Amino acid sequence: MIGLRPERQADWWEVEALFDLCFAPGREALSSYRLRDGIAPLAALSRVARDEQDILAGAIRFWPVRVSGRAALLLGPVAVHPTHQGEGLGGALIRDALAAAGEAGWDRVLLVGDAPYYGRFGFARLDGVEMPPPTNPDRVLGHALRPGAWDGLRGRVMRWDSGRT
Ligand SMILES: CC(C)(COP(=O)(O)OP(=O)(O)OC[C@H]1O[C@@H](n2cnc3c(N)ncnc32)[C@H](O)[C@@H]1OP(=O)(O)O)[C@@H](O)C(=O)NCCC(=O)NCCS
Repeated sequence: MIGLRPERQADWWEVEALFDLCFAPGREALSSYRLRDGIAPLAALSRVARDEQDILAGAIRFWPVRVSGRAALLLGPVAVHPTHQGEGLGGALIRDALAAAGEAGWDRVLLVGDAPYYGRFGFARLDGVEMPPPTNPDRVLGHALRPGAWDGLRGRVMRWDSGRT
């Protein structure tokens, strides 16, 4: 039996180790991390999944960003320990966190990832929304938590502390 709960400060390094295990070495060199450097993830939306022995099985974090001055959520990293992949845990983490994001008043979410996986959660390619290079534009995906929240929104994805335009 696996339970989901918000990530706490004490989870931080264990979650980092899980991400190191699940992603290729040097994950922090990815351009998306330049949007995260020095900015805290949104604690209210980040989740950990632990089994009955309290062993970490999965985690998801979100960062705030801006697109054309408008607030958006950057989903990720999300990872499930290899011993638990394919059990629906990734989907449970994503759905739970997206529901919390909608309840918290966020309008839109984006990520860099595989469309065949994220399509099932309502993510689709975002035309004209540019992640810091080098990022394959086909992997920049968005999901509207409010109808039309991505309509007409274009431009570079900027750090949260870049200010409003
Ligand atoms: C991606 C990840 C979070 C999915 O978690 P999970 O708990 O295994 O996923 P679920 O059990 O909810 O869903 C499994 C389904 O997703 C599919 N899937 C998983 N990763 C996929 C991918 N990259 N592309 C397409 N489909 C994918 C599986 O084939 C499976 O399909 P099925 O339902 O038709 O059998 C997990 O595999 C993982 O941690 N991978 C390594 C880190 C990573 O790549 N994170 C995402 C970065 S974009």
